Amino acid sequence: MNLIELIKSRRTIRKFKQISINIDILIDIIDCARLAPCASNKQPLEYIIVTNKNLCDEIFVNLRWAAYIHPNGIPKHDEKPTCYIAVIVNKNRATKWIGHDIGLAIENITLAAWSYGIASCILGSVNTDNVKNILHIPDEYILDSIVALGYPAQQSFYEDNDDTVEYYLDEDGNMYVPKRPLNNIIHFNDF
Ligand SMILES: Cc1cc2nc3c(=O)[nH]c(=O)nc-3n(C[C@H](O)[C@H](O)[C@H](O)COP(=O)(O)O)c2cc1C
Repeated sequence: MNLIELIKSRRTIRKFKQISINIDILIDIIDCARLAPCASNKQPLEYIIVTNKNLCDEIFVNLRWAAYIHPNGIPKHDEKPTCYIAVIVNKNRATKWIGHDIGLAIENITLAAWSYGIASCILGSVNTDNVKNILHIPDEYILDSIVALGYPAQQSFYEDNDDTVEYYLDEDGNMYVPKRPLNNIIHFNDF
């Protein structure tokens, strides 16, 4: 797959095969996050890779999955992610552009993962106090979000649709995600 195909085919996945991810692959994914652009090159982001089964179970209950299709979007016991990456911010290095830094790094994580055939779900709805405790994250760090990873056990497709933002599941458990049509968001030379 070339880069354009990789970007266009990456979709959020919330059902995963129970196959663990090789640690060298996870480290390479974090290396891709490390090399993302960031404002003033301050490099405020660090990452905690969580693969321990008990810790993964503790984190799982502190996440909110797929609000539009609740509770059907919550991974079942044998569909849970096999890895989480906690994205943490060193407050002493953060700039006003921290949101951009985080977005760029997480996009690198999701695309690098997908290049290895590993699917992802970014989770912003996290009980951060609980997860900070579980992972012993110090006070000078903010827990921004968690990226769930695993080999996909469902498919997800985008559909051009400007009438709704709500994704849905079909009877086979596959996802359909509305995306605003290109003609509705692109402007040439003038608004
Ligand atoms: C910043 C951010 C936070 C998100 N938080 C959650 C979340 O808490 N739970 C969840 O199930 N999905 C979450 N998602 C995934 C979005 O629902 C998903 O990206 C969106 O529906 C578009 O689907 P796509 O990624 O397949 O294009 C989040 C995505 C982003 C970028």
